[in-house]
Amino acid sequence: MKNTLAFDVYGTLIDTNGVVFALQEMIGDRAAEFSRVWREKQLEYTFRRGLMNRYRDFSVCTREALVFTCAALQIDLCEANKKQLIETYSVLPVFPDVIEALENLNTADYGLYAFSNGTADAVKSLLEHAGILCYFIDVISVDEIKTFKPDPAVYHHLLKRCNTAAESSWLISGNAFDVLGAKSAGLRGVWLQRNSSAVFDAWEGLSADATISKLSGLDGAIRSL
Ligand code: LAC
Repeated sequence: MKNTLAFDVYGTLIDTNGVVFALQEMIGDRAAEFSRVWREKQLEYTFRRGLMNRYRDFSVCTREALVFTCAALQIDLCEANKKQLIETYSVLPVFPDVIEALENLNTADYGLYAFSNGTADAVKSLLEHAGILCYFIDVISVDEIKTFKPDPAVYHHLLKRCNTAAESSWLISGNAFDVLGAKSAGLRGVWLQRNSSAVFDAWEGLSADATISKLSGLDGAIRSL
């Protein structure tokens, strides 16, 4: 049976730390810390908005998290710098292992989808800019049902949109919470460990079906299971 491969976008295909170069120009050696806090708060806002039933699209979470990060780190960025950072977010770079891996996965055995908290328009434009939109059958966004990962509803929506069964549908993500969300909803899950010091915080027997350190390892990992 053909397997569905649903790829998370931010932190999996696309490097959110791509903002560090722009930040270095603005705030020097606090750039990496700023990028980390911004990303963590952006995700926290998605979790909170999901739980509070106060959905606004991902770009709102990104902008609000930027404001928080400036306040928390006491870094007073001017409006022009904030605008530049938000613009940089729409042209973030692709991780170096992605293009070749997608090329090799684009076989008769797999159907490839992008699956993200970002809106379909934002994600399509990001993937187009990165040169990888062409590998995906479709871009599926949580925006279609107005909640965020890891609400089980988004993974069920993914299955419905791809018209596939959970047991042959794989979520591939660099975000452990996303893999756990997919596993909890009954899908298969592969953790792409983008950072060797990242910890997979498994709960209650839920774990990834496989862990890989590069996307080129995905086909082998799936075939060995
Ligand atoms: C995404 C988030 C998890 O792309 O970054 O869905």
